[in-house]
Amino acid sequence: MSLDNSLVVIQSKNKKYLTVLTSGDEFIINDGKISYDDIKTLPVQVQSSTGDYFNIYTPTYKEFVLLMRRGPQIIYPKDVGSIIVDGNIKNNSTVLEIGTGSGALTLFLILILGKEGKLYSLDAVKKNQYRAQKTIERYLSTLNNDIESNLKLVNSELINFSLESLEKKIDTVVTDVPEPWDFFENNIINTDLSWVSYLPSISQVEKISVCLKENNFQNIEIKETLERYWIIKDNILRPKNEMVGHTGFIVSGRFIL
Ligand SMILES: C[S@@+](CC[C@H](N)C(=O)[O-])C[C@H]1O[C@@H](n2cnc3c(N)ncnc32)[C@H](O)[C@@H]1O
Repeated sequence: MSLDNSLVVIQSKNKKYLTVLTSGDEFIINDGKISYDDIKTLPVQVQSSTGDYFNIYTPTYKEFVLLMRRGPQIIYPKDVGSIIVDGNIKNNSTVLEIGTGSGALTLFLILILGKEGKLYSLDAVKKNQYRAQKTIERYLSTLNNDIESNLKLVNSELINFSLESLEKKIDTVVTDVPEPWDFFENNIINTDLSWVSYLPSISQVEKISVCLKENNFQNIEIKETLERYWIIKDNILRPKNEMVGHTGFIVSGRFIL
């Protein structure tokens, strides 16, 4: 099987790189050089020109979104995990994502929903959706299945959007736009629906919480997820000095009755 055009991570002793194998070409960094033609299988370890070994393998979702080139700011993997659980998203759910952006959350939703589920992803900017689509196709090419067919991109300003334009009933709405309350301009919720908003600023959190209450949502929760990495090396066993202090708040709620 030819590995030409395969998406891989190349891990040197200092760093991970996301790259595409291109026959006849070389991968060159300070830690050494390898020829792509020497990569015959995945995962594999290849010795570089300096004698160091590089590990070469198919990226995980987390490696892919953190290493990929992107447009708008992505939702970080730690927050994606919380959003999936707080939004009660399962493999046969129908989800409306508001704010396709770079497609980082879109991609994980596609993976979770599988062939049974359905994802509508709305964005006002066509260029962002085009880029996100390419990103998603690139990652899914490593998986050998056609689950991308569960995705439908919707190109619209949120303020002009109506749920009536969708074929299926939505189970969960997930938003990553600055003004998610615009959704309620044209939409009244009167049936079971989970809601999750990802918002960087507390003033936005206050506004969406009030809006959800006014629209009779219950079980409203506001939270941040904090993640601290540890160093485990020889006899060193302690938290890293640096951590990501703030990404976004997650506001969730549910319209039950
Ligand atoms: C921060 S990005 C979303 C990033 C995405 N969640 C990810 O993980 O890659 C926000 C996106 O929302 C879109 N957007 C912002 N306001 C909008 C609105 N009122 N209606 C529709 N799309 C909007 C922007 O064009 C942008 O692509």
